[in-house]
Amino acid sequence: MASGSGVFSADRLDPGTAVLLRKAPFPDPGTAGPLLDLGCGYGPITCVLATATPTATVYAVDVNSRARDLTRANAATVGAADRVVVAAPEDVPPEVRFAQIWSNPPIRIGKAELHELLALWLPRLAPGGTAWLVIARYLGGDSLAAWLTGEGWSVERHASQKGYRVLRVAHPASRRR
Ligand SMILES: C[S@@+](CC[C@H](N)C(=O)[O-])C[C@H]1O[C@@H](n2cnc3c(N)ncnc32)[C@H](O)[C@@H]1O
Repeated sequence: MASGSGVFSADRLDPGTAVLLRKAPFPDPGTAGPLLDLGCGYGPITCVLATATPTATVYAVDVNSRARDLTRANAATVGAADRVVVAAPEDVPPEVRFAQIWSNPPIRIGKAELHELLALWLPRLAPGGTAWLVIARYLGGDSLAAWLTGEGWSVERHASQKGYRVLRVAHPASRRR
C-alpha cells in the first residue's frame, strides 16, 4: 500500500483500524452500497471494503488532500479505482445515502468537532443502514457511545479489544434488524 508523511498512521496499519477490520462484520458481498469510509487517511478501510464488496461503490472522504491522493493510488492497486469515489467532504453530493458508514474517526480534532462531524454524516445513513466506528477507550470511546445514545441513535458496543471499542450505530427503528 502506498503511504506517506503528513497522513495519519502512514507507516503502519493503525491498531484501532486493525481492531475495526477484525471485529466488525464486512458488508454482504452482493451489496451495491454505497459505503462510506469517513476520514479515509491513506485508505486501508476503503480498500478492504472495496475488496470485500466487488460491486459496491465506496466513498472515501478526507479533508487531507495527500490522504485522498494515497487512497486513490491504493484503490487502483486493489483494482477498485472505478468504484472508489475519493472526495473532500464538501464534494460528496448531499443526496447520497449510505448503506454503511465505517470510520476510525479523527478524535484528536476535539470533542465538539467530532460530535459535529458525526452529526453531519450519521444522518446520511440509509434507513436500515449501519455505522461501524472504532474509538480508543482512553480517548473517550465510552463517552462517545453515551453521547450518540443521547442524540437518539441506537448504539451497541459490538466489540472491545486492546483498549478499543467497536461501536455499531443505527437509526433507532432498525435496532433489531
Ligand atoms: C484516525 S484517522 C483514520 C485514517 C484511516 N481511516 C486509517 O484507518 O488509517 C482520521 C482521519 O480523518 C481525517 N479527518 C479529520 N477531520 C475530518 C473531517 N472533518 N472530515 C473528514 N475527514 C476528516 C483525518 O485527516 C484523518 O485522515
